[in-house]
Amino acid sequence: MSTDQGRALGGSCTVTYGADQRTFAAQVGQRLLDVILANEPDHRHVCGGNGYCTSCRVRVEAGHLSPPNRTERERLGSRCGELRLACQSHLIGDVTVIPMVTGSLIDWE
Ligand code: FES
Repeated sequence: MSTDQGRALGGSCTVTYGADQRTFAAQVGQRLLDVILANEPDHRHVCGGNGYCTSCRVRVEAGHLSPPNRTERERLGSRCGELRLACQSHLIGDVTVIPMVTGSLIDWE
């Protein structure tokens, strides 16, 4: 079986992440957020991966993810596609993403 635009489910792929272009090994079909958190535990995911907060959002620099679902279209509006919610996106091949929320969400100083 293969995905619409990508490789066979369960096949290997990579997630290239962040400005420093770290590369994480992954499998087609995995949720993007799970791959990121396994390698970068500080990636923001305030609502726990339930599609409410948008703090997990990433900009897609290269590659493809599963088609945006209704939650992503509602949360991201016209920027959906360029931006994706890592908690709602699944891998269909190699992808390069940049996190959009970094550092503390609340400035305590
Ligand atoms: S973790 Fe909250 S929308 Fe993805």
